[in-house]
Amino acid sequence: MSLGIMCAIPQEASRLAGALAREHEHVHGGRTYYTGTLPGAGTSERIVLVYSRVGKVAAAATAQHLIDVHRVKAIIFTGVAGALTPDLRVGDIVVAQNLWQHDMDASPIFPPLEIPLLGVSSIAADESLSARLRAGAEAFAREGFEHDVPRAVREELRLPTPRVVVGDIASGDRFVSTDAERAALRQRVPSAVCVEMEGAAVAQVCHEQGVPLAVVRVISDSANDHAARDFERFITEAASVYGLGIIRKALLLDRS
Ligand code: ADE
Repeated sequence: MSLGIMCAIPQEASRLAGALAREHEHVHGGRTYYTGTLPGAGTSERIVLVYSRVGKVAAAATAQHLIDVHRVKAIIFTGVAGALTPDLRVGDIVVAQNLWQHDMDASPIFPPLEIPLLGVSSIAADESLSARLRAGAEAFAREGFEHDVPRAVREELRLPTPRVVVGDIASGDRFVSTDAERAALRQRVPSAVCVEMEGAAVAQVCHEQGVPLAVVRVISDSANDHAARDFERFITEAASVYGLGIIRKALLLDRS
């Protein structure tokens, strides 16, 4: 059985796609599912890599297809996120604990944030897959970061040696790009350390289907008035280096 790896946009995983020894491509719903192995990761574990496109619906449809057609045994979502807590800097790494749909609100019929008829407001990521991803992220921070991210990029973007944090993630169909929106989101989901647009949707699909999920996000911006500029710069120059580095280390560690 293979491992599904998803990200939203090509810039988040172009290095991973480039490194994949491809065996097969399959187009469905306007998306290409690339099957192959990752040389240098010390494993022949088969991977199915796909760009879901942005947002909860696109991500959910892609995850369901990975499960139904590609029969993946687990899914890893890798990509970028906006920081919600002041301690997180651009380049830090978050491994998801619980995932919340911050724009879910069927009140007054159901409590705000609760997923109607599922009876929960957040979904936990799989513990053992998340531990593997966390170890991979820590190994990347320790050994891969300086080697893989060119010095010019580290200096231009002022990227620190990444700190790896395990924390809650809020997902919704909004790019959060003002100080006011960020403040409102922090009130709405106080435990969330960062915001993105797909993770909690994939978490719901995986929860319903009994498939383990882990989500890793590199901070690209602070979900504030500068978010659009910071996001563009990070995804253009750095994001996919982190994605490949973390996944490669996580696969390697799984063997040792
Ligand atoms: N992904 C990366 N940055 C984001 C932001 N500020 N809002 C939503 N999703 C994001």
